[in-house]
Amino acid sequence: MKIVTSIKVALLIAFVNVSLYAGEGMWLPQLIKSLNEGEMQSMGMKLTAEDIYSVNQGSLKDAIVHFGGFCTGELISGSGLILTNHHCGYSNIQSHSTLEDNYLRDGFWAESFADEKANPGLFVRFIDRIDDVSKEAMMGVNDDMSAKERQSTIDTNLELIKAKYKMDEFQELLIRPFYNGNQYFAFVTTVYNDVRLVGTPPESIGKFGSDTDNWVWPRHTGDFALFRVYASPDNKPANYSEDNIPYTPKHFLPVSLDGVEEGDFTMVFGFPGRTNQYLPSPAVEEIVEKLNPAKISIRENALAIIDKYMRADEEVRLKYASKFARVANYWKKWIGESQGLEKSGAIAKKKKLEQDFQMRTDAKYKNILPEFEKMYAANVDLAFTRDYYGEVTSRNIELLRTVGITDRLVKAFESGGEEGYNGFKARLTPFLEGFYKDYISKIDRDVFVELVGMYADNVDAGYQPMTVKNAKANNEIDELADNIYTNSIFVKKDRAMEIINMPAAKAVEVIKMDPAYQLYKEWSNIYNERVAAPYNINKTKIDSLQRIYMKAQMETFTKKRFWPDANSTMRITYGTVDGYNPRDAVRYQPFTYLDGVVEKYVPGDYEFDVKEKLLELHEKKDYGQYTDKTGKVPVCFLGTNHTTGGNSGSPAIDAYGNLIGLNFDRVWEGTMSDINYDVDICRNIMVDARFILFIIDKYAGATRLIDEMKLVRPKG
Ligand code: ARG
Ligand code: ASP
Repeated sequence: MKIVTSIKVALLIAFVNVSLYAGEGMWLPQLIKSLNEGEMQSMGMKLTAEDIYSVNQGSLKDAIVHFGGFCTGELISGSGLILTNHHCGYSNIQSHSTLEDNYLRDGFWAESFADEKANPGLFVRFIDRIDDVSKEAMMGVNDDMSAKERQSTIDTNLELIKAKYKMDEFQELLIRPFYNGNQYFAFVTTVYNDVRLVGTPPESIGKFGSDTDNWVWPRHTGDFALFRVYASPDNKPANYSEDNIPYTPKHFLPVSLDGVEEGDFTMVFGFPGRTNQYLPSPAVEEIVEKLNPAKISIRENALAIIDKYMRADEEVRLKYASKFARVANYWKKWIGESQGLEKSGAIAKKKKLEQDFQMRTDAKYKNILPEFEKMYAANVDLAFTRDYYGEVTSRNIELLRTVGITDRLVKAFESGGEEGYNGFKARLTPFLEGFYKDYISKIDRDVFVELVGMYADNVDAGYQPMTVKNAKANNEIDELADNIYTNSIFVKKDRAMEIINMPAAKAVEVIKMDPAYQLYKEWSNIYNERVAAPYNINKTKIDSLQRIYMKAQMETFTKKRFWPDANSTMRITYGTVDGYNPRDAVRYQPFTYLDGVVEKYVPGDYEFDVKEKLLELHEKKDYGQYTDKTGKVPVCFLGTNHTTGGNSGSPAIDAYGNLIGLNFDRVWEGTMSDINYDVDICRNIMVDARFILFIIDKYAGATRLIDEMKLVRPKG
């Protein structure tokens, strides 16, 4: 009797433990009912699956938007007010900033609807409904087909499916593969194109800690900005017009003043971009041993050069801040990811799982893993070179990137004559305008010398353009750089524009003579022929094996709940508020406070400066209603929610469906979560909703925005 009870207790504890920590997984909203509702409720959620996703009535999903296609945003008022991250709105904020009205430096708060600023090109996408179309998509597909036959059958099926949906103007149907192509879901979406900037804190709040604190806990960043969706007078999507009015959403999130405590349920609803949770061990080995180290070292060297120039000159710093942040973001992430994969023994874990799989799986699947071994071994040099080439020519040497884009102008002329040329020119011109605004060729030249040298040193000679190989052999990379950076028409804006605006045939002739263009062509030709072509053949094989492996895992581990890797579609992840142990004997608490901002304050520093006004509010403890129980203003908090890039701007939602925070990052030790989520160490970082309200109300005095929100106290 006693034994039975204690077993029961043990089981209960085991169950509760699992539940308390649930974290892994990015779940489809329409499947919450069958897969997750019970667990979520056992963790404290008071909502039903129908409250989260419903096609019949307003539900949480109607308050969540894909922001610009790269971030998430959420509706927080009945008048279309949207909350997202400062770093998601960054380029829009930047584009409205001038030396006199420097919104990046000083912040911006629209005083009325009329004062809100239009952002051409920016859109938000709502999800109206999600349908499983796997059966129709797979019609006529069988195991004997080649990958190509299979894909073309599916493509035809997808067209047939699309034809069956009746779409309104501004509606779009997106059909995406899930579980590596084993299932297909259709998303009926509505796009709103009139999205205006409403408010943003200064960078010293929205980007506080900048690159030093990026991917790091403890964090003190108020990474938020406010936008508004506008609609036609009858509340329908419409292109920008002065007659448009603030959109009335089907649902918006009330904002909680109560916050959350350690152990509380949280969920994050948004559009995660990409994860690779089901890779076989040789793929993870390739990432840890070859690909990440290559990309890290290239960016490290490029960043060191840019950093040196930025530190020496304030103007350079302003011009390069955004580019630097972009390059540094993933540079830093890959370092954390590799360390995390190593420290958590991810490869050994994968191997163990694979042994288990091998023992239990059907005979027909026993060849998958040995096949993977061979395929990855055969592809590793190509994969390495592909990453090297991409980093060097299109992500770090700006001149080559620009010339690469201009090559499409040449191609447009070759395939479409004058008309083709002008068509692409209309797109290229604004790109070039933007590019030259922040381009300093002497910095780029130094990056060129460094990275071309690295390419020559590290990439197989057979994949190198002759020009690079010779320059290296003769110790003449500097001379090569001097020639290109003195003579190329693409080094200076005026010259480039002058050429591009010449009659098409003449312009193309001049471009083709350009030394930067010629190097680019030589390089890209050899790359396309010797690297990209065989790589793509291998990759197609790897992908179809991955599809079969995914299916096989689902059939073999029948007790496991599988979630589909992220693919920029709407997902829900849930967990609890929790700290973690970054290393032996160290425990990180899950909350940070305004006091911590002041602790980090370095007057005049470009990352850790704090505005006078904020220091004053802190000094006077003028916190209004935006404190926790202990009277402090919370800034950021941690959860076990499984998030990735694209989840930035996602709402953190409490057990009752209220907004408690805004997701914007992950902790350093857990950045490996894209490949190996580990609930012990992977945490997402959110700004506390009370900090956001505090800044809007107390710091900015933008009370009209507070007034349109619905502030609640669910805990009473
Ligand atoms: N690491 C976060 C994400 O991947 C935030 C990036 C923006 N902040 C920055 N300092 N670069 O997007
Ligand atoms: N900072 C990321 C984003 O911009 C979120 C993450 O990678 O955790 O989406």
